[in-house]
Amino acid sequence: MNDVTLLAISGSLREQSLNTALLRAARKHAPPGLTIQLYERLGDIPPYNQDLDSAEPPEPVADLRGAITRADGLLISSPEYNYSVSGVLKNALDWASRPGGASSLGGKPAAVMGASPGNFGTARGQMALRQVLMATRCQVLVQPELLVFGAHHRCDENGEFTDETTLALLRELLTVFRDEIRESAR
Ligand SMILES: Cc1cc2nc3c(=O)[nH]c(=O)nc-3n(C[C@H](O)[C@H](O)[C@H](O)COP(=O)(O)O)c2cc1C
Repeated sequence: MNDVTLLAISGSLREQSLNTALLRAARKHAPPGLTIQLYERLGDIPPYNQDLDSAEPPEPVADLRGAITRADGLLISSPEYNYSVSGVLKNALDWASRPGGASSLGGKPAAVMGASPGNFGTARGQMALRQVLMATRCQVLVQPELLVFGAHHRCDENGEFTDETTLALLRELLTVFRDEIRESAR
């Protein structure tokens, strides 16, 4: 495998989201051989309802599952809400995790990161997200981790990440993830 394509999912619907900005930075600073596509329909995913989870699920759900299937891996950046992952992201992952045993998430490489204005850089939220991804049988990248604390101080006036330390750690994560995906495709 030469080119690796990642589907980047932000767990925040907020216009000025730090986590969405981190994914934009990932797209901008991606190493060679890595293409990052931002998933932009999280707000369209309906609340999970098993009664609607049939052979013909709601269109945004079918779209999400297809996008995950087509991607070589997932790059997820989520806010920490009340020490956990955001509800909208968990809801989307619940939809994507079905049908159990044959879902778009089964065996899919996934890397996790997060940004917060506080001092913990989404540490607790990332642990919760890793637990969810384990249940869905994603192949979660263990290291490196990326926890961007004080994230609002690491962006310019346009909300773009410009802090060199953050960008160097981001490039390192992306490079390791790209290489692991290539390795596992052999
Ligand atoms: C409902 C809610 C719960 C939150 N809980 C936490 C938390 O547990 N830990 C934390 O560090 N920040 C928490 N925050 C603050 C978020 O880290 C902050 O709003 C962050 O900017 C959200 O991510 P975003 O910029 O990508 O939208 C919470 C914010 C909201 C709205």
